Amino acid sequence: VLIGTQWGDEGKGKIIDVLTRNTDMVVRFQGGNNAGHTVEIGDQKYVLHLIPSGIFRKETMNIIGNGLVVDPVSLQEEMEGLLGRGIAVDNLELSDKAHLILPYHRLMDAFKEGQLAEGKKIGTTKRGIGPAYTDKADRCGIRALDMLDIDNFKNKFEEHTARYNRIFAAAGCAGVDVAAEWPKLRAAALYLQAYIKDTVLTVNRAAKAGKNILFEGAQGTLLDIDHGTYPFVTSSNTTSGGACTGSGISPRYISDVYGVIKAYTTRVGEGPFQTELFGTEGENLRKAGNEFGATTGRPRRCGWFDAVASRYSCMVNGVNKLAITKMDVLDNLPELKICIAYDIDGKRYTEMPSDSQLLYKVKPVYESHPGWMCSTCHACCWDDLPVNAQKYLKRLAELVDSGIGIISVGPKRAQTFEVNI
Ligand code: IMP
Repeated sequence: VLIGTQWGDEGKGKIIDVLTRNTDMVVRFQGGNNAGHTVEIGDQKYVLHLIPSGIFRKETMNIIGNGLVVDPVSLQEEMEGLLGRGIAVDNLELSDKAHLILPYHRLMDAFKEGQLAEGKKIGTTKRGIGPAYTDKADRCGIRALDMLDIDNFKNKFEEHTARYNRIFAAAGCAGVDVAAEWPKLRAAALYLQAYIKDTVLTVNRAAKAGKNILFEGAQGTLLDIDHGTYPFVTSSNTTSGGACTGSGISPRYISDVYGVIKAYTTRVGEGPFQTELFGTEGENLRKAGNEFGATTGRPRRCGWFDAVASRYSCMVNGVNKLAITKMDVLDNLPELKICIAYDIDGKRYTEMPSDSQLLYKVKPVYESHPGWMCSTCHACCWDDLPVNAQKYLKRLAELVDSGIGIISVGPKRAQTFEVNI
């Protein structure tokens, strides 16, 4: 299982692409097209939203698991986009149990955000993720298998749209226009039918046959609906446990948990961010790391590495191998800071409090580290790294209580190496 240990955007797509060298199957298990996984191969850059990052290797099977919420029109567009660039998608299956994001979900997402006061907004991607998961939990969702029978799909879509439109009308806003939306949905359903499978069987058969399977997490631990900075979270389990419920695999099969972790911290959207840097300090990190959202293009908030939050994440996920990304972004900083504790109203915390309201009051307690002030982007092994970079990485690993398995020093496939620290 590979998950993000922070607030997403840790560089998971790139690490997965590297790990798929030895992988027979890649499985997405939660989230939807709120995710944006960037993979750079040669001089080509791809951003994936729903399709697993194993799609670039022909021999790797790719599964969109039951735990996702899938916008059928977006999925069709994403598949056609890849095909148009010469990437085949016949090695892809969509779970028949995955729930669909439909136009009224997107509208409701935007509507609810619009209703919230400043400071209470979540800053969602407005892709309809929360409302689609709400319908799933409320046992009134429409699933991928409903697209196998077009008449049935049309009936359900019309019925559900009418229900939502009554709510929009009561709030005085325009609802979903069935006549405008249905042709796109119908086309997407017909296009996707061939890919809709009982993926629980596909995944379990592969596991039983001893295949290597990689479960690709989206977003990050601090956005997990149970373990994140609630309510400023996404609506799914982004943590390693989600791999089981979101794909139908037993925990008995999970051997390793990779935690992808940026050498500093970023967050998109609203919510507490304990080590956030403002002004030129934050701006410099944003520019050096090109920290703009892969899905929405929003500038990411940037800050120092937060060892308190990251240790909590590694514990919740059972991370045994860290994949540390974006080391090179720190190359030109004379001094680096790591947050080792929180000061909240004069009391020192070394564990992450559950209440997001307390997190807003955090004064980070930092330890300072000298930078290395030289380029790391050509490093191919541990010994190539400057001594100060080695010390910084070792300290991170010690603080979050996990070993380091992978280091990434740039966006390209080649700028990644395995270590055993
Ligand atoms: P939603 O998932 O669109 O409902 O958004 C909920 C929160 O999760 C917002 O703060 C988003 O910015 C954040 N979020 C959702 N997906 C991602 C992602 O892939 N990377 C980073 N943040 C995300």
